[in-house]
Amino acid sequence: MFDFSGRVALITGSSRGIGYAAAHALGRKGATVILNGRDAAALEQAAQVLRGQGVDTHALPFDIADVGQATRAVDEVLDRLGRIDIFFSNAGIQHREPLLSFPLADFERVLFANLTSQWALGRHIATGMARQGYGRIIFTGSITALAGRKGITAYTAAKSALHGLVRQWAAELADDGITVNAIAPGYIKTELTRNLWNDAEFTAWLHDRVPQKKWGEPEDIAAALVFLASRESGFVTGQTLVVDGGMTACM
Ligand SMILES: NC(=O)c1ccc[n+]([C@@H]2O[C@H](COP(=O)([O-])OP(=O)(O)OC[C@H]3O[C@@H](n4cnc5c(N)ncnc54)[C@H](OP(=O)(O)O)[C@@H]3O)[C@@H](O)[C@H]2O)c1
Repeated sequence: MFDFSGRVALITGSSRGIGYAAAHALGRKGATVILNGRDAAALEQAAQVLRGQGVDTHALPFDIADVGQATRAVDEVLDRLGRIDIFFSNAGIQHREPLLSFPLADFERVLFANLTSQWALGRHIATGMARQGYGRIIFTGSITALAGRKGITAYTAAKSALHGLVRQWAAELADDGITVNAIAPGYIKTELTRNLWNDAEFTAWLHDRVPQKKWGEPEDIAAALVFLASRESGFVTGQTLVVDGGMTACM
């Protein structure tokens, strides 16, 4: 079980953090992995580390918010490698500001990067998957789509929409052999949350809320991703798997 030999996986936002852990996990299980991020130098550095561990790794820099650039990059990969079996649509952006002063332009920018562009790129990739009759699409959602939190109204709107989109796409793509799911991470120790895990007060609050009393690690998400990306999870579709140490399940 969970052998990814011969599979090609594209993971957006994978020069570090959750995406990198997912690429590492899939690569060590035999997949060819395509790393993505905006910073080409950081991406190449991450790719070299994986290659050093024997993982067939390609670096594909593009900005997920630029749909034209993203689809052109994906087409290059398809020309070179012939297929994408697994698409982990993981990169996302954030803008923090109270609702009452949240600029409309920032709302639209976050919604575009975290929802619209992922819809467009995911659909482009799904077209190729449908032709080959097999695919695994996984979006990174968030527990902020399950419980409100001040200051992140655009992020929450987009992530909530991704949780809904997986049900819709599961219905649309089942006949093509494609499953579509999301992972909703809780608080995971990455660059994105560095300010929070360096904040003792926040960590004390988190430990109080999470029954396991700890931050999650990128590998916790990678483990869920390996399952949802596998051939063996084929009867699981339209789901959001919450990986948060029990935070949203317990009072
Ligand atoms: N960490 C958490 O607690 C947590 C919780 C819930 C959900 N999430 C979600 O998990 C996903 C990954 O977050 P993370 O914590 O792993 O963040 P991270 O450690 O900051 O890594 C972000 C990755 O995404 C890339 N990236 C950022 N903006 C991009 C863009 N516009 N186009 C392409 N790549 C981009 C970054 O590379 P470049 O900067 O070079 O582009 C980097 O590789 C995000 O969708 C985030 O919202 C995280």
